[in-house]
Amino acid sequence: MEKGIPIALEQQRSRAPQGRRLATALSALFFVALVHCVHNSWVKADYDVLRTPKHCELLSPISANEYEARRTSLARTLVELNASAYMAEPGASSLFYGNFSQANWGHSERPLLLIITPHQNGDTIEAKVSVLTPAFEATRAKMLPVSAKGVTFIEWAEESNPYEHAMSILSATPGSVFVDGQTRNFIVDGLQAAHPQVTVSSAPYEIKRLRERKSPAEIELMKCANEATVLSIRAVRKQLHFGIHESTAGALMKSALSSAGLKDGGCLVLFGENAALPHGAGTDRTLGKNDFALFDCTAGLHGYKSDVTRTVALDGSEIPDDHLEIWRQVHTAQTEAIATAHAGTIAAQVDKAARASLNNSKHFTHRLGHGIGLEVHEDPYLNGGSKTVLETGHAFSNEPGIYIEGKVGVRLEDCFYINENGNAIFLTAGVGGKARSPWDP
Ligand SMILES: *[C@@H]1O[C@H](CO)[C@@H](O)[C@H](O)[C@H]1NC(C)=O
Ligand SMILES: *[C@@H]1O[C@H](CO)[C@@H](O)[C@H](O)[C@H]1NC(C)=O
Ligand SMILES: *[C@@H]1O[C@H](CO)[C@@H](O)[C@H](O)[C@H]1NC(C)=O
Repeated sequence: MEKGIPIALEQQRSRAPQGRRLATALSALFFVALVHCVHNSWVKADYDVLRTPKHCELLSPISANEYEARRTSLARTLVELNASAYMAEPGASSLFYGNFSQANWGHSERPLLLIITPHQNGDTIEAKVSVLTPAFEATRAKMLPVSAKGVTFIEWAEESNPYEHAMSILSATPGSVFVDGQTRNFIVDGLQAAHPQVTVSSAPYEIKRLRERKSPAEIELMKCANEATVLSIRAVRKQLHFGIHESTAGALMKSALSSAGLKDGGCLVLFGENAALPHGAGTDRTLGKNDFALFDCTAGLHGYKSDVTRTVALDGSEIPDDHLEIWRQVHTAQTEAIATAHAGTIAAQVDKAARASLNNSKHFTHRLGHGIGLEVHEDPYLNGGSKTVLETGHAFSNEPGIYIEGKVGVRLEDCFYINENGNAIFLTAGVGGKARSPWDP
């Protein structure tokens, strides 16, 4: 496949001049159309061609049994750690263990906590689920889609101390309490002050790792989210024209992601030298003939996130040779990185492989990748300092980039996971995997 790439690029480029006159005529038409089109109706382009891959439509959200199994694993781990409770504010961890997140219950000064406590029942350890809720909002709390039977709602009145209510459910001789790492400080402080004999601290690695390695059901959802995101980028590339603004292209992408059946989709869209700033320039530049267009997109499927970056050209683009060369180098780095990744590899080695492929270029300024799942960026990370050993179920982004300020930026990103045989597989493999050329993303 590697050998085919330069050829694919050449073919595209030699085809471009023949199409130029047509492209010019089309651009003129586009201009007229744009003048007549209200921005909104333009953005509501028809994406009927863009359906989520068939198998994705049949996918169900995470089952009640899987939520139950997650909580049982957590309860067992709490017992091993001599801990008596795990607590999480609405967020990715409450979504993982209880099926509700900030989308269901926003953060405010009044704490709402998912609390999981282990209980010995004969030889087995069971997880008990409680929700600490403001008393006046108890009815709304009981409407949360928390997937657990027999949830106890602990209601705290406005004049009472919510943290004393939370800590009051611990046994007479409690072990430590672990909170999700994203719990806000005033809540951790409040819990600690309510029970000074008990240590309240962030959940250790033994607990965090329960969310790091994905189950087969989670991987299936992530595959579909990532496949649909690639299909959306491919569809939108065909709708671009010279002169389009980054913001308009971004709106087209948002619409495409939503037509593909994904939720909360959005992209960073950067044209030309704007892409040399990895997280954007904020100038809403227009697309020129010599520019690459970079799309860095994310969206969700039943809570699971995609993350895909493509650096593309239009059929009539005239991309400078040195920029095409950078595209090929970044593409090779992506290939080298995934070739290094398998069960047993140290995360830092994967980052190193991409960097070595780019001759340790100072223009590859950021880490190679991040964990992905219920959060777009989550533990563990693929960076030069990461000692994480890759295991079955781990999922990461693989996103090398070259950024030359004032000139050009190229980033290519596909996420991969480690399968049951220990091999690294792109989550986009179902729709062809990584890009083949800037014209075939
Ligand atoms: C999880 O919540 C969603 C709504 O956010 C709901 O559609 C789904 O059925 C719930 N899952 C379980 C297992 O209760
Ligand atoms: C848990 O408590 C037992 C008994 O007190 C002790 O032997 C063990 O080391 C403790 N484990 C942890 C992880 O603290
Ligand atoms: C890295 O260096 C080698 C040897 O000088 C050269 O052939 C190759 O093109 C370089 N690659 C990059 C990405 O700069």
